[in-house]
Amino acid sequence: MVPVVISPKYQNLGVGGVFMRDGLTQAAREHWKAAFVLGGPMYSTRYGFSVALSEAFETEYPRAYFTALEMTPNALKGDSGPVVYAPRFLA
Ligand SMILES: CC(C)(COP(=O)(O)OP(=O)(O)OC[C@H]1O[C@@H](n2cnc3c(N)ncnc32)[C@H](O)[C@@H]1OP(=O)(O)O)[C@@H](O)C(=O)NCCC(=O)NCCS
Repeated sequence: MVPVVISPKYQNLGVGGVFMRDGLTQAAREHWKAAFVLGGPMYSTRYGFSVALSEAFETEYPRAYFTALEMTPNALKGDSGPVVYAPRFLA
């Protein structure tokens, strides 16, 4: 879990996209089955994340901002349960 936030003066220059693509490439290298993002769905869906895929999972955060991506086909099918962020995420 790594927060992706770009300082306003550097937004819309492609930096967030580099972080998203590099993060997903690294996750694929590590054979992650799936990834979750908490953040603006209009942005995360650009990278294949979907609100529908996260529906079976519980979060303490607003659902509209909670999206998931299957990194292997049907990786989340039939799965459910809480997705718990590390306490330092709130800090
Ligand atoms: C969201 C964020 C990480 C994107 O990083 P970035 O470096 O600005 O984005 P990029 O330059 O890679 O991408 C720019 C594209 O994404 C779009 N975009 C940027 N922020 C967006 C958002 N919050 N929602 C939807 N689309 C967004 C831009 O309109 C632009 O679209 P275009 O390519 O069609 O012109 C960054 O803007 C940010 O930290 N924002 C403040 C926090 C925030 O809004 N968080 C919500 C998402 S977690």
